[in-house]
Amino acid sequence: MKIVATIAELRSLRPKLAGPVGFVPTMGYLHEGHLVLVRQARAENPSLVVSIFVNPTQFGPHEDFKQYPRDPERDLALLEKEGADVVFIPSAEEIYPPDFNSWVEVGKLAERLEGAARPGHFRGVATVVARLFNIVQPDKAYFGQKDAQQLIVIKKMAADLGMDLEVIAVPTVREPDGLAMSSRNTYLNDEERKQAVVLYQALNLAQKLYAGGEKDAKAILRQMTALIQQQPLADIEYISIADAETLEELDTVRPPALVSMAVRFGKTRLIDNVVV
Ligand code: PAF
Repeated sequence: MKIVATIAELRSLRPKLAGPVGFVPTMGYLHEGHLVLVRQARAENPSLVVSIFVNPTQFGPHEDFKQYPRDPERDLALLEKEGADVVFIPSAEEIYPPDFNSWVEVGKLAERLEGAARPGHFRGVATVVARLFNIVQPDKAYFGQKDAQQLIVIKKMAADLGMDLEVIAVPTVREPDGLAMSSRNTYLNDEERKQAVVLYQALNLAQKLYAGGEKDAKAILRQMTALIQQQPLADIEYISIADAETLEELDTVRPPALVSMAVRFGKTRLIDNVVV
């Protein structure tokens, strides 16, 4: 496994990688959710590149950029075990030199839901992913369904900018009780962790109600809200039922609909979703 920190090193390695080249961009602190992406990319491509970069531009000024968990040595050991060919682990200056000044904006799709709650977040995500795509030149790039809107935004960016690669969605990986895996789960204390399973329970409830014939989005959202509010530490930021392609809110649920939410437990902000 080659570990490279500079764009120049990666560019000189890239022509030697047998295609198709699979790529998994990450912010490190790898958990089973990342490793499932890595394994799928490994199985589907003769060459596998993984990046580890905590991207400062996708964090708001009052968000957790500084405290975001980092453990590059452990990450590298895990990636070695999974058989990655190349790990790109650049510095912030390598990705954003002092005169960096080009940004990718994905419009309306990036302004709803997470984009409304975290202004500028998707501008940072789209910009870094575009930059990483240009550096790595992958044939296939893998993203988790857990960040559903990120996936939609990146697919749109790749299509709009004519990027010659396939963006592949990988299903959310969950803890045994159903909590979606996330690096931010490490911030939860024991009681918050116990209560956090309610996100998954609320998504299951939405699916059950829809399968039982309920099509009124407000009625489903009302019952989800009531369930989440039974957990005293849960503070709902938003719950939404939106068209899974345009992300416009739905009054009447029709597939494919994205049921998604952001809920805070103390200082920890968790997101989760399901497509019905
Ligand atoms: O999902 C993530 O970990 C990040 O948003 C990504 C795609 C690596 C961009 O920084």
